[in-house]
Amino acid sequence: MLPLVIAFAVLSWLRLGPAHAITVPTSPPSDAAAIDPSLVSVSIEFFAFPGYMQLRGTSKCLANLASLRGAQPAIRIGGTTQYVEHHLSCRHGDSVRANSHYHTLGSLRIRGRDRATYDANLQAPVNYTVASPADAPTSLTYGPPFFTLAAQFDGEVTLGLNRQLNNQANSLAAGLRAKESMMNLFAIELGNEPDLYASGSPIAAGAAWSQSADISSEAKWFTEMAPSVSASGSRLTTCD
Ligand SMILES: *[C@@H]1O[C@H](CO)[C@@H](O)[C@H](O)[C@H]1NC(C)=O
Repeated sequence: MLPLVIAFAVLSWLRLGPAHAITVPTSPPSDAAAIDPSLVSVSIEFFAFPGYMQLRGTSKCLANLASLRGAQPAIRIGGTTQYVEHHLSCRHGDSVRANSHYHTLGSLRIRGRDRATYDANLQAPVNYTVASPADAPTSLTYGPPFFTLAAQFDGEVTLGLNRQLNNQANSLAAGLRAKESMMNLFAIELGNEPDLYASGSPIAAGAAWSQSADISSEAKWFTEMAPSVSASGSRLTTCD
């Protein structure tokens, strides 16, 4: 370690003036605050979630996090919202960047979309078609097996349901089914990235979309859905 510190000090002295050595302790000081062991949590893209469940690496990764932290990581299943206006072959990685509120991606404009519709008769977890395996679907349906899979997680699960498509009855049916199927259901999220909805979004009903429009929409959905969905203690939340 010493030669490295010296080299750094010499370089710094030459270019920037005197160096300041910082010693990073290998163990926390006795007066350090304790961090909640469940702080590490994982978000899994909604449409890709059943695929992740088929990879052994997924459970291995979650188990590693659990043993490192001493607590099961909480899991949020949600997302799948980015709609690239001029180019539909948005790579999955791009969606992740867009989740960090990149409203433009190079020259491409991105508009928020919740796209998933629950189909109580669908025998598969999800159903969608994409032109290339790297694409995110522009619309998809999901069925009861989606919740059976999500019930397999050891950690608490927050489930993202659709608001953008303005089909409250559909999201309610999904929420009730999730509640029945998932003992590990912690919360239901109503709508993904509502800051990216626009006047063309069904939820906007032809009016301009704004923060205040979103606040009223959230309040309305939460009020209308909470009595049945949160009866068992599940919480309602939203993702911005
Ligand atoms: C799955 O989705 C495709 C369109 O992507 C549709 O044609 C097909 O009927 C759907 N299958 C089921 C079982 O819903």
